[in-house]
Order: sequence, then C-alpha cells, then structure tokens
Amino acid sequence: MSEVHTYPVPETFAANTLVTNDDYQRMYRQSVEDPQAFWSQQANDFLQWSKPFTNVVEEDLTKGHAAWFADGELNVSVNCIDRHLPTRAAQTALIWEGDDPADSKNITYQELHDNVGRLANLLKARGVNKGDRVCIYMPMIPEAAYAMLACTRIGAVHSVVFGGFSPDSLKDRILDSDCRLVITADEGVRGGRKVPLKANVDKALANCPDVHTAVVVKRTGANVDWDSKRDIWYAESVAEQSTDCAPEPMNAEDPLFILYTSGSTGKPKGVLHTTAGYLLASTMTFKYTFDYKEGDVFWCTADVGWITGHSYIVYGPLCAGAVSLMFEGVPTYPDASRCWQVVEKHKVNTFYTAPTAIRALMGAGDDFVTKCDRSSLKLLGTVGEPINPEAWEWYHNVVGENRCPIVDTWWQTETGAHMITPLPGATAMKPGSATRPFFGVQPALLDEKGQEIDGEGEGALVMKASWPSMIRSVYGDHQRMIDTYFSTFPGYYFTGDGARRDADGYYWITGRIDDVLNVSGHRLGTAEIESAIVLHEDTAEAAVVGYPHDIKGQGIYCYVTLKNGREPSEELRKELINLCVQEIGPIAKPDIIQWAPGLPKTRSGKIMRRILRKIACNELDSLGDTSTLADPSVVDELVDHRANK
Ligand code: WTA
Repeated sequence: MSEVHTYPVPETFAANTLVTNDDYQRMYRQSVEDPQAFWSQQANDFLQWSKPFTNVVEEDLTKGHAAWFADGELNVSVNCIDRHLPTRAAQTALIWEGDDPADSKNITYQELHDNVGRLANLLKARGVNKGDRVCIYMPMIPEAAYAMLACTRIGAVHSVVFGGFSPDSLKDRILDSDCRLVITADEGVRGGRKVPLKANVDKALANCPDVHTAVVVKRTGANVDWDSKRDIWYAESVAEQSTDCAPEPMNAEDPLFILYTSGSTGKPKGVLHTTAGYLLASTMTFKYTFDYKEGDVFWCTADVGWITGHSYIVYGPLCAGAVSLMFEGVPTYPDASRCWQVVEKHKVNTFYTAPTAIRALMGAGDDFVTKCDRSSLKLLGTVGEPINPEAWEWYHNVVGENRCPIVDTWWQTETGAHMITPLPGATAMKPGSATRPFFGVQPALLDEKGQEIDGEGEGALVMKASWPSMIRSVYGDHQRMIDTYFSTFPGYYFTGDGARRDADGYYWITGRIDDVLNVSGHRLGTAEIESAIVLHEDTAEAAVVGYPHDIKGQGIYCYVTLKNGREPSEELRKELINLCVQEIGPIAKPDIIQWAPGLPKTRSGKIMRRILRKIACNELDSLGDTSTLADPSVVDELVDHRANK
C-alpha cells in the first residue's frame, strides 16, 4: 500500500468543537463499558419523552433481538417540531431549493408545524390509524417532509419509495407492506426534466385494489388522469383541516417507518425502524458527526427516498432544531457549478454528498467550483460508497480550500445512522478511511472461520452489540431479517461489507462481500436485475456482477444466455436494457451486456460468480482454479468474447 497521508484536525476546528479527541475517548469508553448510564443520559439530553423510560437496552443478537428504552413513550413529530416552537417558531427549519435556480423558499418551524398538523388531520379523516402503513412517492419538495412527519404525528408507519423507481417496483412495495394510502405529486422535476409520478402511481395502483386514497400535490400543474373516488388534491384537502393535531403517544419500540432496500437475494426487503432508538441515533450523529452549531445551514444532497435523506434531511436535523436544506434538482443542472452556487446563495456551512457526485463534479473541472464563493463552508461529508483518495483530495483541496475537514461516514439502511465516521473536531483523517466507530458501536472483523481478528487485519465487518437504531425487523418476514443479518455469524450483526483495520485502529471499508452492487451510491441486488432480464422470452439465464466504473463506483455487467435457437442482436440488447429500467427503474440500467453461450457452473449447478467478476473486472490473470467447473471451456469462450469497455 502506498504511503497514507494523515490530515490532523484543523486547529481552528479543535478549538471550538462539540467533541475533542479526549472527549471522544472518554465518551466512547463509557458508551461500551457502561451503556446504561451513557445512553440514558443521551436519550434524556436529545429527546423529549412523554413518559420516561426506565430500561435502556435488552438485547440478544443470537436471536436478532434488541429493544431500546422499551417502556418509554414519545412522539417523533413533537421532538422534531413542537418542542422547538417556544424558542424557534420563526427560525427556518427547511430551506427548499428548486430544480430551477430561480425557485427557493424558507419554511419556518411554525409553518412546518401547521403544514404537518393539517396533513396529519387529513390522513386521519381518510381513515389512517396508528400502525397503518402509508406510501410516500414524492419529488424533493417540502411536502415530502410534511408527509413523513404527518405520519409520525398520528403513529402511521411511512414507506417512502424513491421517485425514480418504476410503477412495478412501486406496486411491489405498496403490496408488500399493505399501504392503503399513497401520497404523491402530479410530476417531479429533476435537471429540467419531468418525472410522471402520478401516471406511475396510476399504473401501480391498477394492481393494488386496497389503496383507497391517493393524495396528489400539484407540483407542475400537468394534466393527469383522475379517479374521483380515489384521488384528492393535496392543497384543497389540507386547506379544510385544522393546523392542530394532537400527537399520538408512541412506545419507544413502536414501528416508525419501513424503507425498502436491496439484498443479495430475492425482492427488496422492507427494513423496519422503530421510534426512539432511530430518532436518538439520527439526531446524535447529526449533532456530533457534523459538529452542528446553532444556526448552521446543513445541506445533505440525498433524496428522501433513501435512508440518508430520512436521517439527515428530515429526522436528525429537525429533531436537533437545525436549518436543513432540501434540493429538488441534480448537481449538474443547469451546469456543474450548481452545488457551489447553492452553497453561495444559502451560505451553506456543511455539505454532505456521495463520492459518485464528487467524481462527476471533479471531472467537470475546477472552474465550476472556484468561481463560486465557498467561504461559508466549514465541513464536508461523504456517504454511500468507498471514496477513492484522489476524489477525497480534490474535495478537500478544491471544494474545501484545505480548510474543511471531511467526514467519511460509513453506515447502512439497516443501521439507521452513522456507525463508523470521523468526528471532525476529534479525529485525524486519512483519505479513504471511515476511521473510528461512533459511540456505542462495537465493530469487529471476522476471518473465514468466523473468528475475531485482533489488531491489524482484514475480514468481514460485523457488530458485536446492538445500537439504538439497529434494524428491528424485515416487514412481514422477521425470519428473513434473522437469516440475513444474524445467522452468518451467530451472535453478531453481519453488515455484508468487508473492511480492513490499520495499526491506528482505523477502519477502511473494502466494499460489499455479498451479491449487492453499489451503483452511484445506490444499492441494487444482482438477483433483482437477473430476474428482470429473464422475464424476456428470448433469455434462458442471466448472471449480473459489478465492475469498477470511474464515475459510478460500480457499473452493471450482465452475462446473458439465450434460449436455444435465439440469436443475439443490437435490438435484443436494447430490449433487455429497457426491461431492467422498466422493471426496476433507471438506476438499474445495465452498462454492459455480454452474450454468454454458457455460464461457469460447478458440477452441482451453482454459478461461479467469482470467475464472472474477474472477467468483468478484466483480471484475467487471476481467474483462479477453474478445474472444478462442470465445463471449464465456458470460461475461455467468455474471456475471448469479453465485452469491450
Ligand atoms: C456502502 C447508505 C464505504 C456499504 C447510507 C454499505 C459505504 C452500503 C460508505 C449501504 C462509506 C455506505 N464508505 N462504503 N462511507 N457508506 N457504504 O443501505 O457497502 O444505501 O453496506 O446506505 O453502502 O448502502 P445503503
């Protein structure tokens, strides 16, 4: 490995931080040695309880079980809104920046309260009760946050589905969690283009007979089909409702939301998070990882359809009483300086994005960055995939003018909040390393036999103890949660990632060690893409693997075997690509399709993905032992016809 440059905590930062390195050491030690005392204090400092808890945590990872603050009661919307009103009613809660640079507005905590109250009352009027599921399929507009918080007001469980998913994916998710009400918009707007959300909902709902209501926000005013028994306009319907809605007291372990995410096998899983633990962890990490100070403007560029948007646009920031910027558009529209124009316009202090965006912007050249005033920036962050040191250096030197620390935050939909991350006033940074565990997080590396590795080494990344925002279930299939996360290594939570620990105890995430792809920071299961491809009547079999892609991190490489007598053609290639987009969404668009007369299989018929990965990555010298294959000549054929990239 080449020499790693270490960046110390900038002195100006260390002098005025919430957590110094000494604080980190002390707090971390307490969090693992005396979790009862540590978490009890944090939960009382960060959250407002309507009924205090007496138990902090009960857990049994061998059964995938954890319960946090289990006898306490609270309401998430009260924590994110009402308790701020005495001091911050007139303070901005959300800054909304539209796709069009001329569109923006500020929403105060009072306005947030009123909008959430009206929508919560509307949901009740349409028959939504505590525990019912509500699907949210929205563009990045303030109503998306109102919708999430309105659910929490009345104890409904939201399932936000990213607006880029296809009608079919939306339908699967609505049915899986039995949502009866959907909140959407006529159209979304991204990068100057319209996204037909209502039309997608109409298609999805054609196969969801139990959905009785679609609440539709008018975003563009486009003509949309209307089912007058089912569809209601958001603005007129909420206008009739009161702004006051009594909050439903929720048990700490009541379900808060479901968020679907891809795994190695089968359809996406509905990851279930519960109330108090999730809110505490998202808020605490927001405060500490981003060293958030009163009045700072915080911008997370994620979509609320992903966990990053849940935790760091909505719940963490609002629970902390922060100013959270929500951006409707894309980093390259109208041009590659958009992010930095927004930073200048709204005096953004912290900017949090994905490495894929950083690489794309780096490719556009420094001028787009340097022509904008970035003097407001104090801190930068990344999330979603490993960041290559070159992109890290560019982010640090060019965007952050060598002044701003970078927090490289490792976490997952299932973890709810940051797990391994620098704290900017405490942790010296190494480009490409997510550094050290957050409070209470106890990572370990396991070797192939499942034994813990001490000191330096590389292995499967697991957690030895639960943390407040750990996944509690897979909606409708609790056993699947146990099988996926708690069975591979009994007694541990298995992340699906590999990692290396260096001599300083810093963690370096090496990427997924299961069949999950990370394309532009979005998780995709190879099985989902394979299922889409084999829907085509000409295909017999498909195997999908990832390969390194300069911008996206990973690209999608598909090996496709056709049925006897069917011929490959350009047209067929396009049909297969379209099928993936149609079935899953544009994020699942294959980059490469290689026609494969046969796939490398063991004698028992298992596809040897390891070999397919090597071919896709052009690592032809290290294909390994192919002698155990049923038909080793298949490999030569694939190598000879390897797709040109
Ligand atoms: C990857 C996103 C390296 C990892 C919050 C994980 C990362 C998956 C990082 C979860 C990081 C996330 N460095 N890899 N800083 N952050 N990952 O559920 O493989 O969409 O398992 O959650 O993204 O993706 P998810």
